[in-house]
This record gives sequence, structure tokens and C-alpha cells, in this order.
Amino acid sequence: MSEATLVLIKPDGVKRNLTGEILRRIEQKGYKITALQMLHATEKQLASHYAEHAGKPFYEPLLEFMSSGPLVAVRVEGERVIEGFRVLAGTTDPTTAAPGTIRGDLGRDWGLNVQQNLVHGSDSPESAARELALWFATA
Ligand code: CMP
Repeated sequence: MSEATLVLIKPDGVKRNLTGEILRRIEQKGYKITALQMLHATEKQLASHYAEHAGKPFYEPLLEFMSSGPLVAVRVEGERVIEGFRVLAGTTDPTTAAPGTIRGDLGRDWGLNVQQNLVHGSDSPESAARELALWFATA
């Protein structure tokens, strides 16, 4: 069944000129890009997006990093794309993400943390619906 997911190209991806490469990999896989926008995330958006991580030790640095520059929000559609994009992205830590994945091929090991991992992808249909509404608000 075709579905939609929310992909964020994080500020490190934009800064490193990897936007085109990441979008190319999404399209090469056969997924459709059905909405796209570059924006500087507000604190409110990020607090809502990362609500489940509030209070964790990496929460504040994560919000700071995510607002350190523009990011690209992408609505991606395809068969089982929620699961499929997360496989395409690779595991959270770029150091151990498999070669062939976005994080495994393009991610850098910054030694200190895993927040600069280039992309975000929704982890469930519920998250996808919530996150798409958040980043592509209508009305
Ligand atoms: P993302 O898929 O956007 O969802 C939560 C983010 O928190 C994750 O990618 C990482 O960027 C970040 N993150 C998760 N675990 C850690 C951690 N242990 N230290 C720092 N950042 C983390």
C-alpha cells in the first residue's frame, strides 16, 4: 500500500551540499517526492517534533543543532516508504550505519555524538501523520 513519510535533511546535510545527493537516492529507489521546502525550524516546531525526547540528555543539544541552519522537509510517497526510507537512511549512528545507506556512505563520525546524522525519517504511520502535519501545515 502506498503511504507517505516525512524526511528531514538536517542542517549538516544542507551545509555539506548533500541535499541533491540525498534526494537522488530517494528518487532512485522509486519513491516520489510530493512536497518539499527549505526552512529554518522554529523552536516550537522542534519541540513538537522531538517531544518524545524531552528531558533526555541529548535533547537540548539536538534542538540547538537542528536550529543551527536551514533544513529541508520532504514529503515522500511510495510502497512501505516509512520502513523503506529508514533502511535507506541506515542506523542512527553514522559510524556503524551500513555502507550503501545514506548515513553509512555520507555520514561523518564526529566522535562526540550521533546527532549530525544527515536525515530524519518518520518511524511509524502515526509519527508520519503527525510529523507531516507539523512540517507541512495547511491553512
Ligand atoms: P532522529 O531520527 O532525528 O531522531 C532523534 C534524534 O536524536 C536522532 O535522529 C539523533 O540525531 C539524535 N540522537 C539520538 N540518540 C542520540 C544520542 N545518544 N546522542 C545525541 N543525539 C542523539
